Amino acid sequence: MSMSESNKDSIDRPAGSNTVWHHASVTRERREALNGHRAAVVWFTGLSGSGKSTLAHSVEEELHRLGCRTYVFDGDNVRHGLCGDLAFSAADRTENIRRIGEMARLFVDAGVIGLTAFISPFGVDRRFVRDLVGADSFLEVYCKCAIEVCEARDVKGLYKRARAGEIKEFTGISSPYEEPEQPELVVDTGAESLERCVAKVVALLIDRGIVQRDKVMEKEGST
Ligand code: ADX
Repeated sequence: MSMSESNKDSIDRPAGSNTVWHHASVTRERREALNGHRAAVVWFTGLSGSGKSTLAHSVEEELHRLGCRTYVFDGDNVRHGLCGDLAFSAADRTENIRRIGEMARLFVDAGVIGLTAFISPFGVDRRFVRDLVGADSFLEVYCKCAIEVCEARDVKGLYKRARAGEIKEFTGISSPYEEPEQPELVVDTGAESLERCVAKVVALLIDRGIVQRDKVMEKEGST
């Protein structure tokens, strides 16, 4: 194949757009081979205070220890920057999740295991990201925790303010949370220990072939 033909093959032109997509010669597969693990998005969903961020960061610690390339996207952090213009209406939450989904897709292409911690209360938005990223690379983890427990914890004091009517459209109080219908994993963050939840998520990643069992055993043997 001549150079000009291969260049032609390496670009796609979306209908009605003057932009072109350049395919990298260093592909996701080559990055995965270099990393020694597959890329994926572990999508934690659940109420505010259900432990999504804590779990995502703890899983990241464990994966990092195993030599995996990871990145945590945290709801509160992302809303300071990338999604700083969005509030909590249904439309804004959908846009929040769309942007995170696009970002997560890029990270998967970069060969990384992305861990996202967003309430993501709407099933349709979570399905959108699943389709965008590809079902093989999308692992939905439902952090199931009774609202009474989240509210009793009230780490950020937001439930109290929501009950007082100071925060509108608060998830679980004045805005809905749609439980996942078929998540890859449910962790009972109200009752199970953090260690147990981390172990379950790592086991899921091994089960789905994202992280190789050998990699884990090798590491266990060396520590
Ligand atoms: S999502 O619904 O769009 O997925 P996201 O995870 O980004 O929400 O942000 C949730 C965090 O924002 C909560 O953990 C809480 O700290 C804060 N927050 C502020 N206002 C609200 C609200 N009305 N509903 C839910 N969370 C809120």
